[in-house]
Amino acid sequence: MCGIIGYSGPLEAETILLDGLSQLEYRGYDSAGIAFFDTASNIRLIKRTGKVAALREACDLEKAGSHCGIGHTRWATHGGVTDANAHPHRAGRVTLIHNGIIENYHDLTEKFGLEGRLASQTDSEVAAHVLDSFYNGDPKAAIKSLTQCVEGSYGFCIMFDDRPGEIYGVRRVSPLVAAYTRSGALIASDLTALIPYTRKYFVVPEDHIVKLTGYKIALYDINGNPVSPQIMEVNWNMDSAMKNGFPHFMLKEIHEQPEALKNTILPRISKGLPDFSDDGIDDSLFAECDRIHMVACGTAMYAGMVARALMEPVLRIPVTVTIASEFRYADPLIDQRTLVIIISQSGETIDTLAALRLAKSYGSKTLAIVNVKGSTIARESDFVLYTHAGPEIAVASTKAYSVQLAALYMIGCRMALVRGKFTDKEASSFLLGLLDAVPAMEAMIARKEEEKNLVTHLINQPDAFFMGRGLDYAFSLEGALKLKEISYIHAEACAAGELKHGTIALIASNVPVIAIATQEHVFAKMISNVREVKARGAFVILLTKENAVVDGGLADIHIRIPDIDDRFTVFPIAVILQLIAYYASLGKNLDVDQPRNLAKSVTVE
Ligand code: G6P
Repeated sequence: MCGIIGYSGPLEAETILLDGLSQLEYRGYDSAGIAFFDTASNIRLIKRTGKVAALREACDLEKAGSHCGIGHTRWATHGGVTDANAHPHRAGRVTLIHNGIIENYHDLTEKFGLEGRLASQTDSEVAAHVLDSFYNGDPKAAIKSLTQCVEGSYGFCIMFDDRPGEIYGVRRVSPLVAAYTRSGALIASDLTALIPYTRKYFVVPEDHIVKLTGYKIALYDINGNPVSPQIMEVNWNMDSAMKNGFPHFMLKEIHEQPEALKNTILPRISKGLPDFSDDGIDDSLFAECDRIHMVACGTAMYAGMVARALMEPVLRIPVTVTIASEFRYADPLIDQRTLVIIISQSGETIDTLAALRLAKSYGSKTLAIVNVKGSTIARESDFVLYTHAGPEIAVASTKAYSVQLAALYMIGCRMALVRGKFTDKEASSFLLGLLDAVPAMEAMIARKEEEKNLVTHLINQPDAFFMGRGLDYAFSLEGALKLKEISYIHAEACAAGELKHGTIALIASNVPVIAIATQEHVFAKMISNVREVKARGAFVILLTKENAVVDGGLADIHIRIPDIDDRFTVFPIAVILQLIAYYASLGKNLDVDQPRNLAKSVTVE
């Protein structure tokens, strides 16, 4: 979850590290630190609790002159948020930063006699001491010994006192990407930190050692034999990782959705039908399965819930969605005839990755829907369908959700075609319906002031309830997640028909209820549920299609989306729900892009 950056080269390292950390701050923001070789080739270390801005203030950039260093933004796992627990950690001749969790840190503390010698409460410092005890002038040999005794997940960047200008990296599970650029050698936990310098990069393979110097990057297997890195290219640009005039990344990313949707859908339409040949996905994947099991976390999981509600009735095969952290420790009902669809924006979420590995061990075929090219999940899955949302920086996911849905909708359409559930004509009209979602989203974005006004009531309330039926219920799950993530208002989603079995006990005067009613076949039922909450004094925010006929007085606020096919209303509805959360967070003066305790990529359990 923590952000990592390392640099060796001709430019000023401190500035590059601080800029990189700002770029990576969405990965963790409770403390930050850098370590670098100063002009006398001694390692200097500066770390602070709080955001990168606090660290920047503590750095005396005028006196800088370093050309090699490492930097870290922390999301606390072991040990509280203190200066001492912030990275980098020093032990003897070793200075390191770490992303991940060393599970056997307790055993290592005993085995290496570290009790009473540790300056922090972190597992990472234990690793630094262990590495120092192995170090006798040969970094690669010491790192190999370290990897042989630590258990858990890690991405380490390491400097040794007697090796000025050199940075070593090694990882297991936790991601590390590296690049040699005209500006020098860089290593980071995420691509976003490399984009200002290059689009060409490589993923550090697990259990390999990477060595950065000012003039080159070398990759070795764990025994120290040179290995050629597999260079990849990303089509993201600097603009996509900047706010570009928007006050927050989240608002910018909400605005980017129509474009991201087109980028994900259009290249995969051929002769009016969905076509995945450029993705290397053969129809046999869709034909030769008896069930679909989707696995993901957070927003990606809720995208799966929408797709399940859409696909199962059409495909007439069981479609299941499971939370990855549950799936990985269960004995899931999957086999060689199950298509396991793994959904992940980052492609690095640890539970989702473990779920993918488990599914493969059961012999299931795996298809990953991933946004970050070359991420671990993308590389390990049998097949991958990339979404083209560009980098998503705000912790609360918006555009990644829409493109995940678009990808899943296209998969559903192709499967229905391949399995004889859709004719060509039906598949083509489905795709046209999907494309209609683009202007519908644009229309809702253009009307964003409506949501700005409606949160006035919401922001003074401790709770909010979302409800819907069928697809609308699946949308409301994501709506509730969005609101609680960034406004800290307790929010929960309820299948409207289930209201009377519990949730209605919580509905009292002025309690906000966001009711989604876009599905024609359950519209009347949904409206009677709205009446039930209204009768108990709820403050109702009703979302319907343009043509819906609704009694005056039923809703306190009524927002209408364009009249599109029921199957695609999720797209304009998502915009409304995202904007409600955004303005609620803003109205409460909270940190929209970096909500407390959350991080963008959850790379530890
Ligand atoms: C975190 C993020 C969410 C994201 C979830 C899954 O909770 O804050 O925005 O939906 O992880 O992440 P993934 O990268 O696997 O989609």
